[in-house]
Amino acid sequence: MANRRIAEILRSGQPDDSLQVQGWVRTKRESKGFAFIEVNDGSSLANLQVVINQDLPDYEAILKKLNTGAAVEATGVLVASLGKGQRIELKAETVKVYGEADPDTYPLQKKRHSFEFLRTIGHLRSRTNSFGAVFRVRNACSTAIHQFFQERGFLWVHTPIITASDCEGAGELFSVTSLDLKNIPRTENQAVDYSQDFFAKPTYLTVSGQLEAEVMAMAFSNVYTFGPTFRAENSNTSRHLAEFWMVEPEMAFCDLEGDMDLAEAFLKHIFKYVLETCPEDMEFFNERIDKSVLATAENIINNQFERLTYTEAIKLLEKADVKFEYPVSWGLDLQSEHERYLAEQLFKKPAIVTDYPAQIKAFYMRLNDDEKTVRAMDILAPKIGEIVGGSQREERLEVLERRVLAQGLKPEDLWWYLDLRRYGTVPHAGFGLGFERLVQFMTGMGNIRDVIPFPRTPQSAEF
Ligand code: 4AD
Ligand code: MG
Repeated sequence: MANRRIAEILRSGQPDDSLQVQGWVRTKRESKGFAFIEVNDGSSLANLQVVINQDLPDYEAILKKLNTGAAVEATGVLVASLGKGQRIELKAETVKVYGEADPDTYPLQKKRHSFEFLRTIGHLRSRTNSFGAVFRVRNACSTAIHQFFQERGFLWVHTPIITASDCEGAGELFSVTSLDLKNIPRTENQAVDYSQDFFAKPTYLTVSGQLEAEVMAMAFSNVYTFGPTFRAENSNTSRHLAEFWMVEPEMAFCDLEGDMDLAEAFLKHIFKYVLETCPEDMEFFNERIDKSVLATAENIINNQFERLTYTEAIKLLEKADVKFEYPVSWGLDLQSEHERYLAEQLFKKPAIVTDYPAQIKAFYMRLNDDEKTVRAMDILAPKIGEIVGGSQREERLEVLERRVLAQGLKPEDLWWYLDLRRYGTVPHAGFGLGFERLVQFMTGMGNIRDVIPFPRTPQSAEF
């Protein structure tokens, strides 16, 4: 007998189809002589209704075990449903209960639970409608990302998780060491002796795969990374994680214009793909999480993003008739409130801000002729703020050496990176998309902790 996923049954199942389903009980309703159970297997938002007749052997005993959360397998025949809400239902011929779930202690009840509460039971929350929808959409976003780059001939390259360099130069690094740092006897300001360490030098969890992606782009022209990155920033916000996933394309023979064009086409592609492949989940978000989810998606797909320079953005912010918490002035970084004002209130669509002051950006960004600004671009999204950060890279050896020194970095630590400018250097560019911020943007979920299965944030690492 065919074992079928519920999404597929609900889509194309026909009366008289004989089949088996496996999943978890969402609800049970008892009637005179029969019972309905709603079964979910994670493949869709909708449940499959299974009708169990009292003629079934051990009817009473089975029913007692079929509480919310129990794992169940049922075989039977599909019939047209007489009830409202579903086209088709399964008339059970056999029902097997694998694992029961004690209704007195099972934390997920039929009522709506708050996301705060569900975060305390991260191991069970994926069994709810909201998290089911989030993680299916997250999966669809991943597929769309690979599809977009593979169709364009980009090579997916795997960059290291353990690195010796701080790509962003922000010092937000988690150290990786085989040394028992707590128990090494040393006085307070004494540096750790790494000669006995696994790598014989300090190493860290990567904050970005960009530098290594540049290495690969100098051989394969167009590449992308898609992997976990780590930041030891103590930001307790709804937009920051200590461990998040980043997508980083890197393109040789490309300038900032090409970089922006790619990023815009990329975001449009992902939204289109998710609308096409997850319509029910997207409807659900629009109805239950944020009433502007579908309109936002259409807006992204159909409108050109606004493009402006940092200097223009500062002028607009200075003119804004809102009171910002943080100061606005040329040379200061944009805060999330400023970013959101531009995208959400002023332009009402994503905005790409370019040419930031050199002193607030990383060492690798290409210096403009004014010697004050760099060829950077950030994409600011309504409700989110910065979702993409990218730039054209400094391909001129002397200028790069100067920038490395100016930022207090050591050229000898970056010898291999500088070598890329010594041998066959070429204008190149890339960007990093914060994957969780994308999923937040797509679903309207308010907190970034609710779009990753196992969030790592300050003071929280349950698993
Ligand atoms: O702007 P960032 O720091 O850029 C880079 O790391 C570049 N090396 C990327 C590149 O050019 N290849 O980070 C890129 C994006 C941000 O725009 C944001 O969406 C996301 O990563 N991001 C975070 N997401 C969640 N939690 C955090 N703590 C994040 N920090 C950055
Ligand atoms: Mg950034």
